[in-house]
Amino acid sequence: MPVTKFSFVDKIIMTIDNGIRAVLTEPIPQRVNPAKLENEALLTKSERTKSAALMRVNHTGEVCAQALYLGQALVAKSSFTRTALYQAAEEETDHLAWCQERIQELGGHTSYLNPLWYVGSFGIGLLAGILEDKWSLGFVVETENQVEKHLKKHLQDLPFQDRKSKRIVEEMSKDEAHHAITAKRAGGSDLPYFIKRMMALSAKVMTTTTYYI
Ligand SMILES: [Fe+2]
Ligand SMILES: [Fe+2]
Repeated sequence: MPVTKFSFVDKIIMTIDNGIRAVLTEPIPQRVNPAKLENEALLTKSERTKSAALMRVNHTGEVCAQALYLGQALVAKSSFTRTALYQAAEEETDHLAWCQERIQELGGHTSYLNPLWYVGSFGIGLLAGILEDKWSLGFVVETENQVEKHLKKHLQDLPFQDRKSKRIVEEMSKDEAHHAITAKRAGGSDLPYFIKRMMALSAKVMTTTTYYI
């Protein structure tokens, strides 16, 4: 994507467009949903509700990832970092679409708070992005590491027989690990401990509220 040729106004329009697509529409995935290879399990009502709630949390995590990376990209210093961030955001679109599809299959809904999370995450992305690129990329590394850890926990929390949701989470987890490695190789620095703790705490607020709303 020739992002270096875009003006600041172009980038603002792209960001608003992405925000509307991430929060209000159905994103179009580039890859086939991995859950398609699995048969639908017989789930009880409470198991379906639990799976839908966990997948809603994962969906909101992806909404936040899009917003973070686009916020960072908007103010990135180098075109190399900007391109890497736009690519990272684009790759998260598959996750967004897969989670949304699974939530619909389970009869659930995406979080009503997504617009709020998008705006908040975009603001955090801007703050991370105005720092040196090595910190901005370090923020991507830490975000992806925390998301991967969280997804691994969801693999244990999901109802045992819900293979469809698990396949999606497994694939996402693999991708997030790869995203972390890519950002590290691009020059991401290890963030200070208290920043990592702050990130984990805000993620906790998001995951706890989104599970219910
Ligand atoms: Fe993701
Ligand atoms: Fe990711």
